[in-house]
Amino acid sequence: MTVQPGEIHGLVGQNGSGKTTLVKLLSGYHAPDSGGEVQVDGAPVGLPVRPAELHRLGMSVVHQDLGLLDDFTVVENVRIGAFRRRRLTRSIRWDGERQLAREALQHLGHEIDPNARVRDLLPADRATVAIARALQHHHPGRGVIMFDESSRALPRDSLEHFHALIREVAGRGGSVLLVSHQLEEVLSVADRVTVLRDGVVVASGTPTSELDEHELIRLMLGYELDSRAPARAAVTRDGREPAARARGVCGRLVDGVTLEIGSSEIVGVTGLMGSGFEELPYLLGGAHPAQAGELTVGGRRIDLATACPRDLVDAGVALVPERRDAQGLSLSMSLLENVTLPRVRVHGSPGRLGFGWQREEADWVIRELGVRPPAPGMTVGNLSGGNQQKVMLGKWLRGDPRLLVLHEPTRAVDVAARRDLMAVIFRVATSGSGVLVAGMDANELQSMCDRVLIMRDGRIEEELRGAAVTVEGVVNAVYRNHSNGHAAVREGVA
Ligand SMILES: Nc1ncnc2c1ncn2[C@@H]1O[C@H](COP(=O)(O)OP(=O)(O)OP(=O)(O)O)[C@@H](O)[C@H]1O
Ligand SMILES: [Mg+2]
Repeated sequence: MTVQPGEIHGLVGQNGSGKTTLVKLLSGYHAPDSGGEVQVDGAPVGLPVRPAELHRLGMSVVHQDLGLLDDFTVVENVRIGAFRRRRLTRSIRWDGERQLAREALQHLGHEIDPNARVRDLLPADRATVAIARALQHHHPGRGVIMFDESSRALPRDSLEHFHALIREVAGRGGSVLLVSHQLEEVLSVADRVTVLRDGVVVASGTPTSELDEHELIRLMLGYELDSRAPARAAVTRDGREPAARARGVCGRLVDGVTLEIGSSEIVGVTGLMGSGFEELPYLLGGAHPAQAGELTVGGRRIDLATACPRDLVDAGVALVPERRDAQGLSLSMSLLENVTLPRVRVHGSPGRLGFGWQREEADWVIRELGVRPPAPGMTVGNLSGGNQQKVMLGKWLRGDPRLLVLHEPTRAVDVAARRDLMAVIFRVATSGSGVLVAGMDANELQSMCDRVLIMRDGRIEEELRGAAVTVEGVVNAVYRNHSNGHAAVREGVA
């Protein structure tokens, strides 16, 4: 595979096809088998790549999990490895460091408090910190910057800044390797694209001008994919109790949300970052304590300000969070253990588990969601990012929840898996569950939701129903009253 100077090179492939492994080989995290060769700017690089060499070679990387130090501040994360020290005392000049970090972030069009702890940041801000770090270590005109799905948490407006920045890097003669499952993004931003299938290059540096999405999907999968959304069985909801009712929910961003989700109904909730749509799933799922509010599910009324996650699980609420590493999975446990964890209490005491049901549930998840490799005993941390996402979804889907709450459910998965996932979510809805999908992807909302709620300043401000749920309708509603999508320019709330 050759990445030219001055080009943005896309790298695509199904979940588990080897994209991250390749990036980790190039950044010295993995040692390659013998026989390969790597050259940067014409000079051979000793293998395995020594991480300490990366800076000199002009190589930097934003890993799929971003590689941030959660307990450290923004300035520490951005500037780590590059701190400037006073000559005599060798102490770090923090004022200067904060200024440099601030500038690096502003380049990406973001204001983030340099003193904030990274653990407390929203996903989009975390991504920005990681990207700012990689960009600032880059030597203009040399080397290569690798982004492993780093931009997927960025909202539309920040994404434009990001694309402008990588174009600038390429414009000065540097190279960019862009790993992404957003094929639209790859086709519009990258000059050429390399496709991996099962660890093998099946298309090498094909110019994106010669490709369309359909063809790119065919290269990735090796077969034609039905590009229509999967079928959803019609159900009559007349006279059925709603699956869930939430009243007066307040949190850090959410400011008094009341909503009802019908049985078999799929409701979307979206908005700008900070509008509260991204917090709502965690308040309803009991992962973050609410300041106020109640949720009625399956005849039980739960006070969200005092409830613990287990109360919600017992009532039939399943939360699928966005960040599988921190919130959704135990990476050191096996696939089977992760999948069955929520139901261990129902099935017996830890001493007498009886593995039959566990094996059956794990096989169900592997089959329904196409987890690869299909190995129930595999340590989840060794699965590829997208396959981890499938395990996390499967873990909760299997439990027949009354209310299924999803945050960005298909972000890390490939086009084929996205379709499988959608089909499973549809089936869960058809069986009578209510589904709430919080996310920014207007395409996803359009193809899944009966209704979409638009939040602004912590409140639900607008509702799109039925035929009004289109990509354009959602985007327009989200960006209404916001000049270039940035911080609130409010012209009176509707
Ligand atoms: N440490 C490991 N031990 C065993 N298998 C591994 C290990 N790391 C990765 N694999 C396997 O190698 C394959 C390639 O994984 P990789 O993470 O490179 O995929 P990917 O293309 O980045 O996928 P995704 O789009 O899901 O991020 C997967 O099948 C994965 O399970
Ligand atoms: Mg990966």
